[in-house]
Amino acid sequence: MSHHQEPSGAPEVGIELDLNGSPRTMIVDPVQSLASAVRAEGLTGTKLGCETGDCGACAVLVDGVPMASCLLPAVRAGGRRVTTVEGLGTATELSPLQAAFMRHNASQCGYCIPGILVAASPLVDRDELTRDDVVSELTGNLCRCTGYESIVDAVLDAHQQVRSGRTGGAA
Ligand code: FES
Ligand code: FES
Repeated sequence: MSHHQEPSGAPEVGIELDLNGSPRTMIVDPVQSLASAVRAEGLTGTKLGCETGDCGACAVLVDGVPMASCLLPAVRAGGRRVTTVEGLGTATELSPLQAAFMRHNASQCGYCIPGILVAASPLVDRDELTRDDVVSELTGNLCRCTGYESIVDAVLDAHQQVRSGRTGGAA
């Protein structure tokens, strides 16, 4: 069930998962997407764009891997570790990636940004990261405002920050 669709009428089911680091039980329609389910839990940072797996606005991490949550039935998230954009950092404690997006003014309308932050978050922990790596890893994330240059700059900057943190500033 996307947010546009009616419930299927099938009995709702309870799933247990790790949601942003805490155990959570969610009651979901068997056909409800994970995107719809986390938004119903108040985690509206996860955006719905195309709902066909093409735009990346709905990206969440499932066991650390970015996935299009519009296509993933919530029931399939049972027993898994799910991280939404809300789990990356907080307003008072931005993640290095979020802070870099602020420094680079990488957000214009902002609609694509939660999905991009989620999709890019595993990249900043890599040992090596090139501009081409970032571009190719983010091909599934569309930005209607076409702010790609500053987005890629921000991801590379965050990677540099995290790396220098790991090596005691010797980046
Ligand atoms: S809303 Fe999921 S990929 Fe576009
Ligand atoms: S900032 Fe507007 S869609 Fe990317």
